[in-house]
Amino acid sequence: MTAATPVRYLTGITTTGTPHLGNYVGAIRPAVQASRLPGTENFYFLADYHALIKCDEPARIQRSTLEIAACWLAAGLDPEQVFFYRQSDIPEIPELTWFLTCVTGKGLLNRAHAYKASVDKNLAAGADPDAEVTAGLFMYPVLMAADIILFNAHQIPVGRDQIQHIEMARDMAASFNHLYGPHFTLPEAKVDESVATLPGLDGRKMSKSYDNTIGLFAPREQLRKQIAGIVTDSRAPGEPKDTDGSALFQIYQGFATPEETAALRQAYADGIAWGEAKQLLFERIDREIAPMRQRYEWLMAHPQEVEDLLQRGAEKARARATPFMARLREAVGLRHLARTVVTGRKKEDKASLPVFKQFREADGLHYFKLAEPGGRVLLQSTGFASPREAGQAVARLRTEGLPALQALGACVERPPEVSENDLATALSRLMLPA
Ligand code: TRP
Repeated sequence: MTAATPVRYLTGITTTGTPHLGNYVGAIRPAVQASRLPGTENFYFLADYHALIKCDEPARIQRSTLEIAACWLAAGLDPEQVFFYRQSDIPEIPELTWFLTCVTGKGLLNRAHAYKASVDKNLAAGADPDAEVTAGLFMYPVLMAADIILFNAHQIPVGRDQIQHIEMARDMAASFNHLYGPHFTLPEAKVDESVATLPGLDGRKMSKSYDNTIGLFAPREQLRKQIAGIVTDSRAPGEPKDTDGSALFQIYQGFATPEETAALRQAYADGIAWGEAKQLLFERIDREIAPMRQRYEWLMAHPQEVEDLLQRGAEKARARATPFMARLREAVGLRHLARTVVTGRKKEDKASLPVFKQFREADGLHYFKLAEPGGRVLLQSTGFASPREAGQAVARLRTEGLPALQALGACVERPPEVSENDLATALSRLMLPA
C-alpha cells in the first residue's frame, strides 16, 4: 500500500518585530491548526536572511528571532510534527538562490512591487531611481523562491501582498525546469479569505506600521492597559451601542465562540458600559492566551532550549534539502569531474515511483498512462498509430518533464482530479539524466 503524496505547506516568518494579536488571529493560530491536518507536511521557518534586508541591528535580529520562535512554539506548533527551522541554518537556501539568480531575468525582478515602490518613491522625490535600494531588496523574490522550491512546497499560505512573490517563484521554478529538467514543483499561493483581520487600537487594521497593535504575549497588566486604550465612541452607560465598526467588538469576535459573540451583541444593544465591555474582552483574550503566555515566558527564559529545537529542525529540513541540492548541482553541471554517468537510483525507492505503462487497446491503437504504484492514474494518452510513437512521447516526458506536456498537447490528458503539481512532482521523480 502506498499513501498519496502529502500536500506540502510552507511559510516564512520574517524575524523583525514582535508578534501582536493580529498576527496571532490572522496567521499563527490558523497555521498551528492547519499543521495538524493529516495528509499534509508543514514547513515553518524563521526568515532571518530576509530580515537582514530590512534591519541592520544585530541585537534586534537576534531578539526577534527568539521572540518569534517562542511565540510559535507557545501557540502550539509541535516541532516534532512539522518542520520548524531557521532559514540561516540551511546553507542550501543561499546556494539555490544563486542557481535561481542565474535563470531569472533581471526584468522580472524590476517588476517586483516592493522594488518598484522604492523606485517610484525615488523618482517622485527627484532622486536617483535606485537611491538607497540595496541589491538585497532587489533579490528578495529570488531568496523567497529558493525558500519555497527547495522543499517542493505545493501551497504557500500568505497574505495578498505576497501573491506576486509566489508567482515569481513559479516563474523561476519553471525556467529552471525548462533548462535542466523537471526538478521543481510549481508552488501556489494560498490566500485564506476566511481568517479574521483584527482592527487595532484605533480601528484601522492592526499593523506595526500604524503603531496600533496589542502585543501577543505582553504581561497581563499590559494587556489590560492596552485594551483600555481601544478607541470607542462617547456613548454613556445604558445607551445602546453599535457593533458595526466597533473595534472592540471585532477583536472580541476574533476570540469568542458564536454564542459568546451573540451575548456581547445583546449586551451592546442593552447599553453595556464601555469599561465593562473592555473588561469582558480582556478576560476573554486572557483566557485563551494565559497558558501560552506562561510557556512563552518560560521559553524566553530558556533560549538554549529554543536554540536546540531549531537545530533539530534544521537537521530534519536538511535531510530533505541536502540530497535534493546534490541532485540540482548535478543537473546544472557542478559535477565530479571523473564521473561520466549519473549513478542509478537507489533500489528501495524504486518501488514507490510512478510508472509509465504502454498498452494496446481493442481499437488497435497504442496508448500509455502514467500511474502511481497504488494505481492512481496521473496522465493518460490518446491512441497512437504505432508503439514507437507512444514510446517517443513517453521518452520526452521522462527527459523533459512538465514542459514536454505542453509540447505533446492534446495527445496526453491529465485527469481533472490530478493537480499540475502532483504531475510535476511525479515527473521530476522519474526524470532521466539527459
Ligand atoms: N516575504 C514573506 C513576508 O514578508 C516572508 C517569507 C520569506 C516567506 N520567505 C517566504 C513567506 C517563503 C512564504 C514563503 O511575509
